[in-house]
Amino acid sequence: MRLIQYLLISMFLTGFAWAQDSSDAQGTPDRATTGGATTLEDILARQRGEKVDNSYRSENTGQGNVEGLMGQFGTRGVTSDSDVYRALRYGSADVTVSSKGPAASVLIQDGGMWWLNFRTGPLREYGTYIIAGMLAVIVLFFLLRGKIRIDGERTGRTVTRFNSFERFGHWLFAGSFLVLGLTGLLTLYGRDFMIPLFGKEGFAVIAQGCKWLHNNLAWSFMLGLVIVTVNWIAHNIPNRTDLKWLAAGGGLFTKGSHPPAKKFNAGQKVIFWACILLGVSISLSGLSLLFPFEMPLFAKTFSIVNSTGIPQMFGLNLPVQMSPQEEMQYAQVWHVMVAYVFIAIIIAHIYLGSVGMEGAFDAMGTGEVEEQWAREHHSLWLAEVQDKEAGKTTASPAE
Ligand code: HEM
Repeated sequence: MRLIQYLLISMFLTGFAWAQDSSDAQGTPDRATTGGATTLEDILARQRGEKVDNSYRSENTGQGNVEGLMGQFGTRGVTSDSDVYRALRYGSADVTVSSKGPAASVLIQDGGMWWLNFRTGPLREYGTYIIAGMLAVIVLFFLLRGKIRIDGERTGRTVTRFNSFERFGHWLFAGSFLVLGLTGLLTLYGRDFMIPLFGKEGFAVIAQGCKWLHNNLAWSFMLGLVIVTVNWIAHNIPNRTDLKWLAAGGGLFTKGSHPPAKKFNAGQKVIFWACILLGVSISLSGLSLLFPFEMPLFAKTFSIVNSTGIPQMFGLNLPVQMSPQEEMQYAQVWHVMVAYVFIAIIIAHIYLGSVGMEGAFDAMGTGEVEEQWAREHHSLWLAEVQDKEAGKTTASPAE
């Protein structure tokens, strides 16, 4: 009897499977009739381990339905869970939430999948290439040129290059940058190599520490940025001397070549302006991330950029309508892209400001540089300083 029961059940199941197969044979379902919903064929194919083309869902995200996302119009007849789910995805569900805020009632944002994939994929990959590329350039430069030495005889005399306020501004800016860079990179890559090392709980403590430092040191970075700008902007206005300096490659590639320069040479001016522009940009996108949904920047920026006609020349039309979450996603991506370029530039700066050039670090260490160093790297500035000194001595002979 039991055997007959088994046979009957097996026949029933086989028949059921055959019915599924025949529905498969009908070909790709017409998505228009399902309203973009997953069909039984999709589910069964997925269960069989087959790859299901998901583009009908991933490309049908309801993005652009900004009115729907920002101000919910109410449900249009929820008849089943999948209808509710679809309405949530399209931002048309009537959601009531206790927390307030522009984005609180958007419970699902599939439009953000590109961001998730981009953040863990190309963003990190190309960013790693930028930093690794800069390290490779520096190693190559060191192998070809070696340490840049003071060529002439040392005089034993020193000149004041930066006063204590200038050095304070530099180290506030630089110190906070170094911690921000490190904690930012740990946030981006940390879980991959730290969870295996410290476990999930150990990493959670480190991640929280990183977040705290990153959020709070942002303020000292911005203060440093202001001080550095105020202190040095006047010395960084480009002039004719910079062209001559650039034409001589700054003397960086030829031993014994020392093109004249004022307080800052053209290379340093490039570093200075990069620090200011990238510093402002990273601060703005950082503030937008620090105060979620309060400082949307990208829809407005993109509409200005679109109006220049430049994106269209490359076949692009940047999105100008965004949900609050999308604004945050663009802010995060931009923040990290700027950070990678900034870090790469600063790696070159740190090399030349320390081990790469004899006598350079003293400028930011004690503030006093060897006179011969100043003559070789900033001859016009040294002449100005010495003229001033001479003027002072002749003006007050009694001293
Ligand atoms: C350990 C790290 C660093 C060292 C050893 C270092 C060293 C130096 C030195 C020696 C100078 C003066 C160069 C001269 O006398 O002509 C300088 C200038 C400067 N530093 Fe740094 N620095 C460091 C990190 C940073 C960071 C992280 C930033 C920005 C985020 C920064 C931004 C600047 C700027 C804007 C200047 C003036 C322009 C220039 O000389 O290129 N520095 N640094």
